[in-house]
Amino acid sequence: MSTKQIEIIPINEITNFQSRSEEFFPIEWYKEMLHRHPVYYHEITNTWNVFKYEDVKQVLSNYKIFSSEGNRTTIFVGANKSQEKNSPINITNMDPPHHRKSRSLLAAAFTPRSLKNWEPRIQQIARELVEDIQENTTIDIVNALSGPLPSLVIADLFGVPLQDRYQFKKWVDILFQPYDKERLKDIEQEKQNAAKEYFQYLFPIVVHKRSNLSDDIISDLIQAEVDGEKFTDAQIVQMTMVLLGAGVETTSHAIANSFYSLLYDGESLYSELRDNIELVPSAVEEMLRYRFQMSRRDRTVKEDNNLLGVELKKGDVVIAWMSACNMDENMFDNPFSIDFHRSNNNKHLTFGNGPHFCLGAPLARLEMKIALEAFLQSFSRIEPIEGFELEKNLTASATGQSLTYLPMKVYK
Ligand code: HEM
Repeated sequence: MSTKQIEIIPINEITNFQSRSEEFFPIEWYKEMLHRHPVYYHEITNTWNVFKYEDVKQVLSNYKIFSSEGNRTTIFVGANKSQEKNSPINITNMDPPHHRKSRSLLAAAFTPRSLKNWEPRIQQIARELVEDIQENTTIDIVNALSGPLPSLVIADLFGVPLQDRYQFKKWVDILFQPYDKERLKDIEQEKQNAAKEYFQYLFPIVVHKRSNLSDDIISDLIQAEVDGEKFTDAQIVQMTMVLLGAGVETTSHAIANSFYSLLYDGESLYSELRDNIELVPSAVEEMLRYRFQMSRRDRTVKEDNNLLGVELKKGDVVIAWMSACNMDENMFDNPFSIDFHRSNNNKHLTFGNGPHFCLGAPLARLEMKIALEAFLQSFSRIEPIEGFELEKNLTASATGQSLTYLPMKVYK
């Protein structure tokens, strides 16, 4: 079985951000790159960086030239340093045609029908979390809603026992914590341990479900079949890990950032949404466009070309900065401000583009919509807390800088 060693590109050397807050919302850096260096070669990391909408789209989707199979990357997910080539669980690092089979197997769990079944379950979880929020007090929305919701939802959708869902969050937090240069060995060890525990926990559940199929993601994955091939039990456990890595922290981040935006991007944003609840889906798209930062993917050049207006050589790494391209003036009018009425805001590339387009995008959108609606229906007004220091309440994560605490006053 062939494996490959992955080299992590230190992204901070490219951005050189001076603070966590700058990384949380690097609008000035995006402006500079979009205006002055739209295709930028960074010598120390030996990477090309693209910021314009059309370039980002091309790099993400043109898999014949820009491959997902390189061994240098800025994004590292999972507990294992080496990756087994062409294993169906390795979906994000595969090009078509191999990619098609893994994608189709996994897509069996993400049909529109599943989504319809999931909606009331997600609503129920969101309602319970929102009901626990005390009016007329200062609350922390990260702890109350954005943190727990995605992991509780995914635990429920996997079909694991209710009492174990908080354990899920613990494993997720360890498995997908970012690598810190100083603690590289310790973190790797923690991840290996968590991965082992998680595997030992879930494997018997998968085995049991094989003869007790139900309406959940694990049962869907058990039944999925493409070209006569099916997932093994072990692959299903690994697949759930892929989904946790791809879908939990990202969605938490998107929900927390939406509340941050409602508090700090304009005084009337919350009341506008509360009075026009039908605007929520459009608001969700605008939050994904404007407030989901540090979303980027990389690809490796497969053959020499000039597609980005510079000479790219086989083996070069190109980083596609989606959250910057979401602010490209050639694509979005007045992109550096938030507008729930923007007609094309669902054209953002926060979920990628092309064959690897986020499989969980409908689920993430649904969770964001339900979280916002449940909250808006319960509270008439929210207010920021005086003296809140953003810089002290951010932490490095796979999605960039994530809010660890976001206090606000809430009124019925
Ligand atoms: C706001 C939340 C989310 C964001 C911003 C996001 C973003 C992305 C992006 C940018 C990609 C494309 C990667 C590439 O082109 O290399 C991707 C792929 C993927 N996402 Fe998401 N994602 C989110 C939520 C989810 C959720 C909830 C799930 C499932 C539970 C999920 C599952 C996946 C999977 C399986 C892939 C791999 C698809 C493939 O390679 O064919 N994501 N996501």
